[in-house]
Amino acid sequence: MQRRDFLKVVGGVGVVAVAPSLIEGRLYAEDGTLYTSYKKVQLTDAEGKPLLASQLDKEVNYVFNYPYAGTSCMLIALPHPTEKNVKLTSEDGVQYIWKGGVGKERNIVAFSSICPHQLTHINKSDTFISYLKTGGKTMGCTKSMPCHDKGEVIVCGSHLSVYDPKKGAKVLGGPAPQPLASIVLEHHNDDTLWAVGVLGADKFHEFFRAFKPELKEQYGGKRKAKKLVKDKAQTVTLAEFTKDIIRY
Ligand code: FES
Repeated sequence: MQRRDFLKVVGGVGVVAVAPSLIEGRLYAEDGTLYTSYKKVQLTDAEGKPLLASQLDKEVNYVFNYPYAGTSCMLIALPHPTEKNVKLTSEDGVQYIWKGGVGKERNIVAFSSICPHQLTHINKSDTFISYLKTGGKTMGCTKSMPCHDKGEVIVCGSHLSVYDPKKGAKVLGGPAPQPLASIVLEHHNDDTLWAVGVLGADKFHEFFRAFKPELKEQYGGKRKAKKLVKDKAQTVTLAEFTKDIIRY
């Protein structure tokens, strides 16, 4: 099917070409893709310099906030290329396609850290959801599961939901009703990384409703936490971002 592009004014300051299915903001495109376009933001290091894909240590859990100032995301350079064009399904039964990792090795992925079960997320005080390296053990991967003692999964320790980052954070086990929402990344020729949107059903609305006291303490209030990230997103390791990483 031929897709014509349209021009759209973004935030009154710029114009970008978008496919017809993108015009509504939150999208249910003809091909089943569930995608929300946000501001294009460059990932930077802690000093504000452009973060280069080649600079990422493999299997380190990095964190940046996107698309809102108070919504944390995880960035991981996996040890191997991801799968491509993985078919995923949201809690509401909407199917969408996760295209795969970016970078030369197609191994760099990013996901919203908000667990769709009961909204556990990476935060500045204590964090129960994180990436588990190759060979890592978790109670979430029992003996009957292929991930048992293999690691290379994202685990939410609150109720032991396990997600496969090689497959767009597809649920491998536990009570999570759908994959983590994926942050759509672009990798440019100069090796820089950019976040451009969110794929899958996100939980931002529920998150902002549920964590008012935390948002006040960590971001100065809900209004500040709900500001869209503009231009740059500082990226640090999880160990730098949070005081305590708790794993089960
Ligand atoms: S909140 Fe993550 S598994 Fe329950």
